[in-house]
Amino acid sequence: MADAKLLDGKALSRRIEKELKAEIQAFSGRAPCLAVVIVGTHAPSLIYVGKKQEACKRVGIDSKLFEVEETVNKKELKKLIESINKDHDIDGILVQLPLPQQISPLEVAEWIHHDKDVDGFNPINMGKLLMGSLSGFIPCTPLGVKKLLDEHHISVTGKHVVVLGRSNIVGKPMAALLTQINPGYDATVTVLHRNSPDLKNICKSADILIIAAGQPHLITGSMVKKGAVVVDVGITKVNNVSLDRSKVVGDVCFDEVKKVADYITPVPGGVGPMTIAMLLENCVKSYKRHHKIL
Ligand code: GUN
Repeated sequence: MADAKLLDGKALSRRIEKELKAEIQAFSGRAPCLAVVIVGTHAPSLIYVGKKQEACKRVGIDSKLFEVEETVNKKELKKLIESINKDHDIDGILVQLPLPQQISPLEVAEWIHHDKDVDGFNPINMGKLLMGSLSGFIPCTPLGVKKLLDEHHISVTGKHVVVLGRSNIVGKPMAALLTQINPGYDATVTVLHRNSPDLKNICKSADILIIAAGQPHLITGSMVKKGAVVVDVGITKVNNVSLDRSKVVGDVCFDEVKKVADYITPVPGGVGPMTIAMLLENCVKSYKRHHKIL
């Protein structure tokens, strides 16, 4: 049997960026602007934030970086976010996660005004998604996964989708998105997590398996149904001591699983670039709303 076909997020994200760039060039007045808040010096976060800002630049979105001390208290951070909420020249706000332990990500999500919440983590946007409205901002990773499936004409309707991971960033909104009562959605979703019994067999029953566990090599070939679609959201940096360099790996044993699945996302180059492309899309959506562009 032939190896699984690749769900190439890099190629699709390049196309989306090209389209966004053309759309932005046609705007009159100022460019869209994203505020990026980073608290502390968490190394992977610095890299992700850098990638997001580079992507903004490629398409013509201005980005403003707000670097905040690791030791910031709640009051100070809330004040900063509220000042960005009020700034008419900023369309979107992103506070990079994770945050230091004295700051609750749930509270931060509440402080960000829902009209500028391009991450889709504010309870109003999350609540809309849960209640069946797609009019708010939808979190970037689930939205990117859905776009990648759509691009390859992979329908989720009537399929059994297993989501491994229950985070607010990926697992929960992913399940909420795919279970929408809407043409093109309507999946049957099982959400698994590290404490789920019978994890292996449930994964094996999936038509579409979406893994966001952050645990390299978690999904082996024997956990995947023949002909399944496998979406690997995991990104873990591992050190290759013998080669004296590090590389990024997903949660899936790619070389095994590609022999069983029909479709698979590579890591890197699968979901990661799609997350960034959806952030850009959400920024443009926010800009258009603020400027009443239909
Ligand atoms: N950390 C990991 N993924 C994300 C994301 O999508 N948004 C933010 N703000 N932080 C993250």
